[in-house]
Amino acid sequence: MGSMVARVRRQNPFIFTLALRAQDAAVVLARDLVAMAFDEWELAEISYDGRIVISELVTNAVRACKPDGDITVRVYLEEGDPVLEVWDESPLLPEFQVAGVDDIRGRGLFIVRSLVKDLVVLRVSGAPGKVVRAVMSR
Ligand SMILES: Nc1ncnc2c1ncn2[C@@H]1O[C@H](COP(=O)(O)OP(=O)(O)OP(=O)(O)O)[C@@H](O)[C@H]1O
Ligand SMILES: [Mg+2]
Repeated sequence: MGSMVARVRRQNPFIFTLALRAQDAAVVLARDLVAMAFDEWELAEISYDGRIVISELVTNAVRACKPDGDITVRVYLEEGDPVLEVWDESPLLPEFQVAGVDDIRGRGLFIVRSLVKDLVVLRVSGAPGKVVRAVMSR
């Protein structure tokens, strides 16, 4: 039994998933999910970066949705690399901005891009909204 559990853990079938309402408190829970997942995968060295990434993406999703709108976070491994996905129901798309010297906003996605190896926005056929998908390097 013990060895079966060990084998399942090595294969990493987990998709850590969290359905959230668009509220500020959602961001804390998303960070906790990433901490739990990276702990499971023994990715302590990049866990803090992962929490920053999910924080920025979920904060954007909360702002984009109407209050209590639907947000889903999925965190999983792909070829060993952690993937962080945030779906939200807003039809608006992220805009990669270059913040002006006086702007107090507009840097989140810039920071995210520097922490990940791939960042894309995907439409899901048949569903509203979009997924922002970040792939980190193990
Ligand atoms: N999930 C999203 N849905 C709709 N629009 C988004 C989403 N994420 C980002 N955006 C748009 O892209 C812009 C840039 O996002 P970014 O995170 O870089 O900056 P910000 O959220 O405005 O400010 P900051 O993250 O620095 O507090 C946002 O202002 C918003 O217009
Ligand atoms: Mg932002």
